[in-house]
Amino acid sequence: MSIQAKPLHSVGVPMKRKEDPRFIQGKGHYVDDLSFPGMLYLSLVRSTYPHAEIKNIDISEAMKVPGVKAVITGKDLEAAGLGWLPTFHGFDKQMVLAIGKVLFQYQEVAAVFAETRAAAIDGAEAVQVDYAPLPVVADPFTSKTDKVLLRPDREAKTNHIFHWEVGDKEGTARAMASSPKRIKQRLWFQRCHPAPLEPCGCVAYFDAMGRLQFHVTSQAPHVYRTALSLVTGIPEDKIHVMSPDLGGGFGNKVPVYPGYVCAIVGALKIGRPVKWIETRTENLTSTGFARDYHMDVEIGATADGQVTALHVATTADHGAFDAAADPSKYPAGIFGIVTGSYTFPVAHAEVDAYFTNKAPGGIAYRCSFRVTEASYAIERGMDILADELGMDAVELRKKNFIRKDQFPYPSALGFTYDSGDYHKTLDVALEKIGYTALLKEQAEKRARGELMGIGFSTFTEVVGAGPSKHFDILGIKMFDSAEIRIHPTGSGIVRAGTKSQGQGHETTWAQIVAEELGLDPQNIMVEEGDTDTAPYGLGTYASRSTPVAGAAITMAARRIREKARKIAAHLLEVGEGDVEWTDYKFQVKGVPSKTVTMKQVAFAAYTDMAQNEPGLEATYYYDPPNMTYPNGAYVAVVDVDRDTGETKVRRFLAVDDCGIVINPMIVEGQIHGGLTEGFAMAFIQEIQYDAEGNNLNTNFTDYLVPTTLETPHWETANTVTASPHHPMGAKGVGESPNVGSPAAFVNAVIDALSPLGVRHIDMPLTRDKVWRAIRDAEAKKA
Ligand code: CDP
Repeated sequence: MSIQAKPLHSVGVPMKRKEDPRFIQGKGHYVDDLSFPGMLYLSLVRSTYPHAEIKNIDISEAMKVPGVKAVITGKDLEAAGLGWLPTFHGFDKQMVLAIGKVLFQYQEVAAVFAETRAAAIDGAEAVQVDYAPLPVVADPFTSKTDKVLLRPDREAKTNHIFHWEVGDKEGTARAMASSPKRIKQRLWFQRCHPAPLEPCGCVAYFDAMGRLQFHVTSQAPHVYRTALSLVTGIPEDKIHVMSPDLGGGFGNKVPVYPGYVCAIVGALKIGRPVKWIETRTENLTSTGFARDYHMDVEIGATADGQVTALHVATTADHGAFDAAADPSKYPAGIFGIVTGSYTFPVAHAEVDAYFTNKAPGGIAYRCSFRVTEASYAIERGMDILADELGMDAVELRKKNFIRKDQFPYPSALGFTYDSGDYHKTLDVALEKIGYTALLKEQAEKRARGELMGIGFSTFTEVVGAGPSKHFDILGIKMFDSAEIRIHPTGSGIVRAGTKSQGQGHETTWAQIVAEELGLDPQNIMVEEGDTDTAPYGLGTYASRSTPVAGAAITMAARRIREKARKIAAHLLEVGEGDVEWTDYKFQVKGVPSKTVTMKQVAFAAYTDMAQNEPGLEATYYYDPPNMTYPNGAYVAVVDVDRDTGETKVRRFLAVDDCGIVINPMIVEGQIHGGLTEGFAMAFIQEIQYDAEGNNLNTNFTDYLVPTTLETPHWETANTVTASPHHPMGAKGVGESPNVGSPAAFVNAVIDALSPLGVRHIDMPLTRDKVWRAIRDAEAKKA
């Protein structure tokens, strides 16, 4: 497959940010805006205990609340064969409503259906549940002991969910043992939450034909349709899933949640439409959290800093049910990318996951299933190694980078990196940030006792699942799809199996069609998220849209171009072999004056029946031959106040390489958003539980989302190394800033504190944690 040598025609054309209406195609409606005659509201009763037996559920008072129509419990669902949901991962199942006992605080216990939202909430408050508390397991290390068995429903009588490993265990141990330099550090990537602007929700009803109409906040509508059919037994053709504007997803809207199932059951049982909209607290406490990986990172090296071995052993907290949305072959997602941008000759990674009395999840929060954790591990690890060696962190990275001429590069953990020029990307970053001047400034400040830090993260990402031979969700292979129809007047529609949550597919998919067919992007309608009209696809998460659906769109457009060539030959009255596609139109070879445009061809496709088959449309299902491997060089410059522990991010530069860029403005927006999330995780966000299993971050006054006041100014730049196997040469980018930035922030703060002897602090680097680390270090020195 050839790469387009020239960049797309929109590349480099600066968007006129505000005034250009071409690039705003969003429809603008949310699930919560929907209303249907006779619609009922659903409110869920939630557990106050993290672990308790349910002695009794009394719904009599709730049924007396004016407006309440019905209450259902776990037992009702169990009787209907709907007590448990399979999790996407396929290894586990999750209670829809608690049966017998609750396993985490805020778990769904009963569902109340009422005429108004207020009545549903009042009804839920009136449900009386008698609990008998059980001992709580609040961390995976306690869980390991199996003293309290959390899931007696499972065949295996242990809290251990899985052990997964990749690489050469013995070879790594040998290489590590003979390495002159070694570092070992436990790093915890704390539990976080994607906290999308709009929480999850749905409206379910059965239409006059008995067909389920399901409007839902889903990043993967087709997978929902299949999963619902398998779980409920409703034939798939009798299920219509529609995913409207989502208000952000970030992985939070991949799993199927109990609220959705209850809404469908309510609609079936009562015969009226049912709406369920989560509150912010419900979103933060019960739907897909992210991370919670405790990683022991060990790196071996020669005395002059050549890496020799990498070993990472992880203890993962998966909460009460294993609801991680990972492909079935990869229970720890694509954690194997942990060798990063470096030439490790040998490596071994292993992950052990445990149940705890916490909310289930482990979703790919703007991340290819655990790539963020892996990237943080290696990028922190390299800085700790640099510190151990007394070597500049940049020099160490450059010494160990995979060189440009080594691509395609087979990593020690089984990936084949497609392309990259890591030295160049880092050099651009060093030049733009003014590294030499910053080092000088830092030396001067250090001499005065001031704490200034410069932190790097030179990460490699892996995005674009499939290929289908390796990746599936619930057995459904991870390809993606596109259908393009060009109308007689030269406008058209493109439908894809992906689902934008704000990433701007409405713009970029139109641009791809326009680029391939020489049409005007503003007259290419983009539609996603409706299972009745879009071709089957696996959805949008893990930055897979451009690598997979973007490729499908390109290939579908090229199919159209091939048919159009025949029509053009007919119009130009020459043989097909005499027609070439040049400068966005068909031309008789060597005769620039004899051309037809795609618009003319489109008209002829419907009006001139002399050519064989009328119409101008095509569908393409794309199964990628490999993932794409975007990379970046990020630099954070921070000042830390020695007296208060306050950190100020003075500068942050992100140089990204995502191959050919479709739309620079959208890519820049993606980077800004992801950096803001990375900043939040590095400095302020953690879903905390106390030892009794109480969730301490149940709303936005406890779980902080940065505003413009806290958010640093972002500087961005890019390098372009095309993907050799993607038909446009593009790689994914949406998650890169979230994946790459946490390590840069932490590396910068630790660099600032390194004169005091501080080697590591776990995120989030709150003021009090940094202050404590400074005081402890000073006390130790004294
Ligand atoms: O799967 P998701 O849409 O979240 O991630 P993505 O494929 O990385 O794309 C995010 C947005 O950036 C989309 O609108 C892409 O089309 C756009 N993009 C781009 O313009 N050029 C690239 N090389 C990659 C993404």
